[in-house]
Amino acid sequence: MSDTDGNYRFGTRLVQMGRPQSDEQSFVNPPLERGSSVLFASVAARDAVRERPFDQVLTYGLKGGPTHFHLEDAIAEIEGGSRCQIVSTGLAAVTTALFAFVRGGGHCLIPDSVYGPTRTFLATIGKECGISATYYPPDMDEAGLRSLMQDNTTVVYAESPGSHTMEIQDVPMLSRVARSANAKLLMDNTWGLSFFKPFEHGVDCSIQAGTKYIGGHSDLLLGAITTNSDEDWQRLRSTAVTLGQYASPDDCWLALRGLRTLRVRMAEHMRAGIEVAQWLRGRPEVGEVLHPALPGAPGHELWKRDFSGACSLFSVALDPSYSYDDMVALIDALKLFGIGASWGGFESLVMPTTRTITRQHHREHPAGPMLRLHVGLEDTRDLIADLEAGFAVLNKIRAQRT
Ligand SMILES: Cc1ncc(COP(=O)(O)O)c(C=O)c1O
Repeated sequence: MSDTDGNYRFGTRLVQMGRPQSDEQSFVNPPLERGSSVLFASVAARDAVRERPFDQVLTYGLKGGPTHFHLEDAIAEIEGGSRCQIVSTGLAAVTTALFAFVRGGGHCLIPDSVYGPTRTFLATIGKECGISATYYPPDMDEAGLRSLMQDNTTVVYAESPGSHTMEIQDVPMLSRVARSANAKLLMDNTWGLSFFKPFEHGVDCSIQAGTKYIGGHSDLLLGAITTNSDEDWQRLRSTAVTLGQYASPDDCWLALRGLRTLRVRMAEHMRAGIEVAQWLRGRPEVGEVLHPALPGAPGHELWKRDFSGACSLFSVALDPSYSYDDMVALIDALKLFGIGASWGGFESLVMPTTRTITRQHHREHPAGPMLRLHVGLEDTRDLIADLEAGFAVLNKIRAQRT
């Protein structure tokens, strides 16, 4: 764990966490340490270290080195847990956590709004390895969820808000359901980074795609899984190591560097995201803005109860009178929003989502075509002007058609 004073506020701790303390002299940042083989003075020294498989000790590169350990300490502290395991990508964090807690013959409950590749993993390799999944509507009530629990359910999974459709989940309620059946509550907390404290709401294992706001600069992929119990930690760590999970120390070092500005980046992402979302809400072309921090938006009340802030990823449904092709014309006309996957970097992004949403349960999603926006750190006046120009193109196309 971090060696910082737990009484300091989050911003201060962010500056200090994951940094070695030296009594004499050292650079501000920990050095980047790369390595595969670890050399020992004797076989006895090697054996002594190997007896501590879950400790942050150097045994072999696969099990991490000082650069990984600094980042793991820092992320565990941000999430409010005790230990963190770094893996190669956010998706690897999802699959490793699922493998750790749902073994062959096991069953998990998955929200229908889950990140698409999590669904793909469960439908393919997960299924082939004997893991079964039942999809539940993300807003399902407690009685409904309890009725879906099976004797072999070992995991209730949450992702809040859900990918693309942005449903906020009642995590304390999910925790009650999981606990009553001795199952673990796993949560993809990437959206809620620093704003949602998973372990205060009953989560057992929190997943972060470090690729997003932790890295923050669109130049690395990383995953992090944090737990708050020694037993869960050992299971997770042994699964990650057995699967050969690893992340480059270079990427961990970059992520540590990115973390120092996390608080100011998140504050600005939040401010800018809400400003753009509010502006979009006032546009006649827009049917609905799915941003949980907007009063009256779906999930707003739960968001207000459980989150201390919001990142800048949200979805927008156009008025149903617009077609998918109209939306494509709007997106193509944007100059400041790059067309691409992922989020959490310094730059704004947009992607059409309507055709990427897979759902098992019918829900009254907005009827119009949907796009997802990530609001970056550009000046919001320029971003809004860009969107305004995009709407002008959209309306011109529509006028020419009629
Ligand atoms: C909610 C969520 N979880 C996990 C991931 C996976 O992260 P990565 O791209 O690092 O594999 C993503 C990526 O977009 C995501 O949106």
